[in-house]
Amino acid sequence: MSQTVADTAETPVSLDRRFQDWIDAERKIEPRDWMPEAYRRTLIRQISQHAHSEIIGMQPEGNWITRAPSLRRKVALIAKVQDEAGHGLYLYSAAETLGASRDDMVADLLSGKAKYSSIFNYPTPSWADIGAIGWLVDGAAICNQVPLCRTSYGPYARAMVRVCKEESFHQRQGYEIMMALAQGTPEQKQMAQEALNRWWIPSLLMFGPPDDQSPNSAQSMKWKIKRHSNDDLRQRFVDMTVPQAEFLGLTLPDPDLKWNEERGHYDFGALPWDEFQAVLKGHGPCNRQRMAFRNKTFADGAWVREAASAYAEKQKARQAAAVKAA
Ligand SMILES: [Fe+2]
Ligand SMILES: [Fe+2]
Repeated sequence: MSQTVADTAETPVSLDRRFQDWIDAERKIEPRDWMPEAYRRTLIRQISQHAHSEIIGMQPEGNWITRAPSLRRKVALIAKVQDEAGHGLYLYSAAETLGASRDDMVADLLSGKAKYSSIFNYPTPSWADIGAIGWLVDGAAICNQVPLCRTSYGPYARAMVRVCKEESFHQRQGYEIMMALAQGTPEQKQMAQEALNRWWIPSLLMFGPPDDQSPNSAQSMKWKIKRHSNDDLRQRFVDMTVPQAEFLGLTLPDPDLKWNEERGHYDFGALPWDEFQAVLKGHGPCNRQRMAFRNKTFADGAWVREAASAYAEKQKARQAAAVKAA
């Protein structure tokens, strides 16, 4: 029988203190463990927003499935978009272990009450955008999510292990698209450059506000939900991506980007936080389109949910009859 948070202390100390000690010892919190209400709420918010982002994130790329330039590209893109649906489902399940209801989470997404990552409110006008998304957006997701494999809440951490393996396939398929375009005709290279110009800044915004404007960060770090600050992760992403852009022979659209010998990192220009806030509030180029499509898809899928429930009911009745007969 493994220990639980409530068993650890020999002298009477508050549950809050025992909880923090447990976390400081790098132990995982599991669904039945005692946890502060604020920890539970923070995780439900973060995991459900993460799930919503996976689901809405299927749209910008789904837009290109029917127009992928070859069968090979089409197969890879379908697999990738389908993976994102799977990520959403693991994450909704992880949030359910904290007592959140799937119906409520879905309702909050459909009504616009819940947030999802701002990045998915940008359009994908050319095939090169699919390359740029895989390379940059999935690349940024990897930077964010690899540390989440060690997050303090067990079900979230375990879900992230598989998610991260799939994300690295996504990142590589994106980079490979960019490589083919960058080594192609001058027009193709231009397409790749334009897509990079569109996605670079939104990718940096994905890491969230600067540390001094991110009010919940300190508490999340103390609870080891978060392992690195937004600014640290953003810097890591920039340092990782600059040589990849150089290898492609493409230019990152930032005149202030340069290696800083003293810091051992790349410096980069100020980011448009007003744009980030506007997109989060629903004023991005595609917010309305994304929500309208999600609502339509949910309504169109009603018959599938009804059929699945009817089937599950039938199975349950059959099992009950078999138990009775035995
Ligand atoms: Fe994903
Ligand atoms: Fe992905």
